[in-house]
Amino acid sequence: MGPTLITQIIIYFTSFVVQLSIFSPVSVSSQFCEAGIGYGDSECGVLSSSMSKILIKGGTVVNAHHQEIADVYVQDGIIVAVKPNIKVDDDVIVLDATGKFVMPGGIDPHTHLAFDFMSTQTVDDFFSGQAAALAGGTTMHIDFVIPVNGSLSAGYEAYTEKAKNACMDYGFHMAITKWDEIVSREMEIMVKEKGINSFKFFLAYKGSLMINDELLLEGFKKCKSLGALAMVHAENGDAVFEGQKRMIELGITGPEGHALSRPAVLEGEATGRAIRLAGFVNTPLYVVHVMSIDAMEEIAKARKSGQRVVGEPVVSGLLLDDSGLWDPDFTTAAKFVMSPPLRPSGHGKALQAALSTGVLQLVGTDHCRFNSTQKALGIDDFRKIPNGVNGIEERMHLLWDTMVESGQISVTDYVRLTSTECARIFNIYPRKGAILAGSDADIIILNPNSSFEISASSDHSRSDTNVFEGRGGKGKVEVTIAGGRVVWENGDLTVAPGSGKYIDMPPFSYLFNGIDKEYAKYLSSLQAPVKRFKATT
Ligand code: URP
Ligand code: ZN
Ligand code: ZN
Repeated sequence: MGPTLITQIIIYFTSFVVQLSIFSPVSVSSQFCEAGIGYGDSECGVLSSSMSKILIKGGTVVNAHHQEIADVYVQDGIIVAVKPNIKVDDDVIVLDATGKFVMPGGIDPHTHLAFDFMSTQTVDDFFSGQAAALAGGTTMHIDFVIPVNGSLSAGYEAYTEKAKNACMDYGFHMAITKWDEIVSREMEIMVKEKGINSFKFFLAYKGSLMINDELLLEGFKKCKSLGALAMVHAENGDAVFEGQKRMIELGITGPEGHALSRPAVLEGEATGRAIRLAGFVNTPLYVVHVMSIDAMEEIAKARKSGQRVVGEPVVSGLLLDDSGLWDPDFTTAAKFVMSPPLRPSGHGKALQAALSTGVLQLVGTDHCRFNSTQKALGIDDFRKIPNGVNGIEERMHLLWDTMVESGQISVTDYVRLTSTECARIFNIYPRKGAILAGSDADIIILNPNSSFEISASSDHSRSDTNVFEGRGGKGKVEVTIAGGRVVWENGDLTVAPGSGKYIDMPPFSYLFNGIDKEYAKYLSSLQAPVKRFKATT
C-alpha cells in the first residue's frame, strides 16, 4: 500500500519545512536530505557549490543519429568531451558504464504538476513530480500553464511561483482558454519575452477549458505569425457532453461511464478537424495524447499528404487498455480515468506500431496524478472523477521494455522518441536531447541486464495508486545526471528544491522551415483576383 492521505499531509508539511530551511540556492556543501519524506530509500546526499566533474567510462553512448563506445566527460553542468579513453585527474567522479547505455536524459513533453483541475489539485507539485521523474531517468519536462481567468501573464506568474521548488529543468506550454485582443497581445509577450513557443487548445472539457472553432482559427493564425507551435487536446467536447448525459440517463454513473461517454470516434473527429483547420491556416500542428487508432489514422493521412503534423502518444495509452475501468472496485477503476480515455485492447498495439514506423514522433506521459481520495470526488458520478494518470517516473523504463526489449525499435530510436525529437520540436536541440560536447549534462546510464518493478508503495511520487502497479521488465536506469550532478544512483535520490532551471524555448523550430514558401505557392495557385475589364456600353 502507498501512503495514506494523512501520511501524505505529514510528508507535505515535512517537505515544506525542509524546503523552507534549504530553499536558498545550492550553497557550499549544503546537505539536501529527502530521506524519510517519501522519496524511497534515498539517503542524504551532499551537493557542493562547484558542480562535479564526472567521467562516464566505457559505455555505449547513444544519440538519435549514432551510437558508439566512448567516454563522456562532464564539467560545470556541461558535456565537455565525448571520445574514447579520456584521462582525468583524481578529483573527478568516475562512473563505470561498461556494458551499459549512456543516453540523453528523457524529456517529457506533456505533464501537469501542481495543476488545479476539477475541484482539486494534482498530488504532484514541481518538486515531487520532478523527483519522481529523475528517479525514472527523465531530466526535463514541459508543463502546461493554465491562464488565470483567461490572463496569460497571470497564469505565467502563477506557474513561475509553483515551479520555485523545481529540482530539474523545465519549460512551459501555455493553454489558450478565451480570445480577445489582450490574449492575442499576451501570446506575443509569452513568445518574445517569456520563452514559451507552444500554445494548447482544448477541444474538450466543455464549460471549463474548451474553446470553439472560431477561437481555434484565431489561435492558429496567431501561432503561425509568432512561429509558435499549436497543440490540441482533440476530442469533440460537445459530443462528449452529450455522451455523458446519455450515460447518466442510462444509470451508468461509475468509471466505465467515462470511457463509454467519449468513444474513439469523437477523438478521431476532433483530430481530423484540428488537422484540417491547421492545414487551412498553413501552420504546423501537434496533437497531444493520441489515444486511438482513429486519431492516429487522421495524423497518418495528413502526414502522407505532406502536412506538418506531430502526434504524441502517452505511455498509458501505449501500454494500457480500458478494462480497468470496469473493475468492481471503485478505487481501482477510478485510477484509470483520464481523457481521452484508455481504449479497448488493440489501440495501444497500433499506436506502438505507429511509433516504430514514424507515423507518431515522440512519447509523453500526460502525468496528472490524483490520489484515491481525490478520485473519490466522483464516487457517485464519473463526470466528477478528476481526470489524469501517472507516468513521469515510469515512461523511460516502460518504453525501453515494451519497444526496445521486444525489438520494435532500435536504441537510437528510443533516444529519438524519448528525448531528441522533443528537443527538436521545441527548439532546444542540441542543448537538450543529445550527448554532444556543449550539450547540457542531462544523462542517464541504463543497464539492459537489470530489471525494474513498479508499485505505488515504492515509486517517488505522492499518490497511493499507480496505473502501472505490478508491472516490471528489463532495463533499469541506474544513474541519472541532471545539470551535471548525479541525482539518482543505485536507488539513492539526491534532489535539491530550487536547483531546476527554467528553459527558454525560442520560436520558429524546424517545423516552420519553408512554410512561407508553401504559402507563396498557395497564393500563386489561386489565380486570383482575376483582372476584369469594365464592360463598355
Ligand atoms: O486526463 C487528463 N488528460 N488530464 C490532464 C488534462 C489533459 O487533458 O491533458
Ligand atoms: Zn489534454
Ligand atoms: Zn495533459
